Amino acid sequence: MQRGYSIVWFPEGRRSPTGEVGPFFGGIGQLVLDTGARALPTAISGTFEALPKQRRWPRLRTPLRVQFGVPLALREPRGSPRAALNASGRLERAVRALVTGKPDAPELSREGAATITRTESAMSKPANEWTETLKDGRRVAIRPIRLDDVERNERFLEQLSPPSKHFLFLGGIAQLSDDALRRLCDPDHANDMAFVALETDISRGSALRQVGVSRYAGASSPQGAEISVAVADEWQHRGLGKRLLEHLIEYARAHGVKRLYSMDSMGNTRMRKLARDVGFSERPDADDASQVIYYIDLVPDAGLATRAPR
Ligand SMILES: CC(C)(COP(=O)(O)OP(=O)(O)OC[C@H]1O[C@@H](n2cnc3c(N)ncnc32)[C@H](O)[C@@H]1OP(=O)(O)O)[C@@H](O)C(=O)NCCC(=O)NCCS
Repeated sequence: MQRGYSIVWFPEGRRSPTGEVGPFFGGIGQLVLDTGARALPTAISGTFEALPKQRRWPRLRTPLRVQFGVPLALREPRGSPRAALNASGRLERAVRALVTGKPDAPELSREGAATITRTESAMSKPANEWTETLKDGRRVAIRPIRLDDVERNERFLEQLSPPSKHFLFLGGIAQLSDDALRRLCDPDHANDMAFVALETDISRGSALRQVGVSRYAGASSPQGAEISVAVADEWQHRGLGKRLLEHLIEYARAHGVKRLYSMDSMGNTRMRKLARDVGFSERPDADDASQVIYYIDLVPDAGLATRAPR
C-alpha cells in the first residue's frame, strides 16, 4: 500500500454450518491467473464464533484474529484446463496451513514450487530469505535488497578491489550518484530484483555488513533482463556468487522472467566459470570482441527473438 498498489480482499469458500474452512472454488484461481496479481493467503478466525449459523446478530466482543501468509506468485501452464483449480488449490492449502499452524505440504513437481514451498514452510521467516553456509563454514543471510540497504550497498561497492570493480562495471562507472544508489536498493520486485548477502557473524558492531549482491533489471525488455553479481573480494571463491545467482534465477523463473543475460569481459574467467556452473550458455558479443554474452532462457519458446541478446 505504501508503494501505491491496490489490495483487493477476496473472501473465498462458503459459510460452513460448523465454522471449518470449506473447499475453495476455481474462481479465485482464475482471478489471480487472469490478473497476474500476487495472492496473499489470509485467514480470519473468530468470525464463526461471532456469528454462528443460527444467530441473527453478531456477538460484538468476540475477538477476531487475522493471519497473513507469504505472498504467492501463482503460475500455471497456459491452456491447462485445470489451471484455475490448481491455483485455487494452492491458495486453499496455504490458508489451511495458516489456520492449522502446520506448514503447507511440499510440492516439488511444479515449476517454481521449490522457492514458494521453501518460504511457505519457513513460517517465521519472510519470503525469499535464506541462511547459507559457504564452503569454508562461514554463514551468510541472503534476502531481497531494501531501501535501508543504501549505505551498506554503497560501502560494499566502494570496497571492491579495482579488478572486481572493473569487471562489475565493465570499466565504466567510477562514482554512482545518490539517486542511482537509491534506485539500486528499490527494485520493483518484478521487472527488477536484487538480493544481498549479509555477514551473519556481527561481533564487530551492530550493522550487518554486505558481502555480496545479485540483481536483474529490465525483465520486460524483449532482450530479457540483464544480470550482475558481485562478491566482496575476501569472500570470493567460497560458493557465494553461485548461491546468489541461483536464488536470482529461481526468483526470476518463479516470476515469469523469460531470459537472463550478462555481458562480460572475455577476461573475466571467474564469471565464465560461475555462469557455466549455473547453466548459462555463451556467445561472443558481435559488437565487441573483448566481450562475451552469457544467457539463460527460463521460459522456452516464450515469444522472444530466438537469438541471444546482442
Ligand atoms: C564473479 C564472482 C561474482 C564470483 O563469485 P564467487 O563467490 O567467487 O564465486 P563462487 O565461489 O560461487 O564460484 C563459482 C565458481 O567459480 C570458480 N571460482 C571462483 N573464484 C575463482 C577463482 N579465484 N579462480 C578460479 N575459479 C574461481 C569456483 O571454482 C566456482 O566453481 P566450483 O563451484 O566448481 O567451485 C566474483 O568473482 C566477483 O564478485 N567478481 C567481481 C565482479 C564480477 O566480475 N561480476 C561478474 C560480472 S557482473
